[in-house]
Amino acid sequence: MYNFQQRANAVFAFFVSVAFAMVLLTAASGPLLLHFSQDIKRTPPPAIDAAGVNVRVGRVGFQYDYNNPSTQLGWVWFNLDADLRPWFHWNTKQLHVYAVVAFETPQHHSNEIVIWDHIVTSVDQARLQLSKQKAEYLVSDIAHKLSGLNGTLRLEWNVVPWVGFLQMERGPATEIAFPQPSPPSHSHTAA
Ligand SMILES: *[C@@H]1O[C@H](CO)[C@@H](O)[C@H](O)[C@H]1NC(C)=O
Repeated sequence: MYNFQQRANAVFAFFVSVAFAMVLLTAASGPLLLHFSQDIKRTPPPAIDAAGVNVRVGRVGFQYDYNNPSTQLGWVWFNLDADLRPWFHWNTKQLHVYAVVAFETPQHHSNEIVIWDHIVTSVDQARLQLSKQKAEYLVSDIAHKLSGLNGTLRLEWNVVPWVGFLQMERGPATEIAFPQPSPPSHSHTAA
């Protein structure tokens, strides 16, 4: 009474339903595993050590007259000891890890700049230990001024799943301050 095509169709429809249910369960497992992970609760939050942070402000333009205003750029060095291994579970493909400088200026309340990033593709690379790591990207502001501002530095990471939703996580913020500009190292001083 059922021909081959009808049977094949029924089998295929059943397969698609099961596969879809598996995908949904897998997608849901990621957030649940992270939410209930005892390893994550036991692991110290990945904070950037305040003692290891070094912020310098340099200037571009007006190199010849040090008293003239010019565009300020911030360089940041930091130490990091972050154990992100607990964020790897069976549905974790990779972690996108990045350091974010946030600061407030009189004109703009919220400024955030990614100064360093890194991709972790396996659990045995997920313990990050960096010493005097130099930022890959400079800090700058639309008003060209950084000296005197206070800000924070924190680690953020996205948990990228094989199937499902990307989850964004962040560590505690470390206070930083932008100092007065250091003299340009290659200044030409008029004798
Ligand atoms: C930055 O922090 C220092 C020390 O806490 C404080 O004296 C200063 O007023 C702050 N600067 C700004 C712009 O908030």
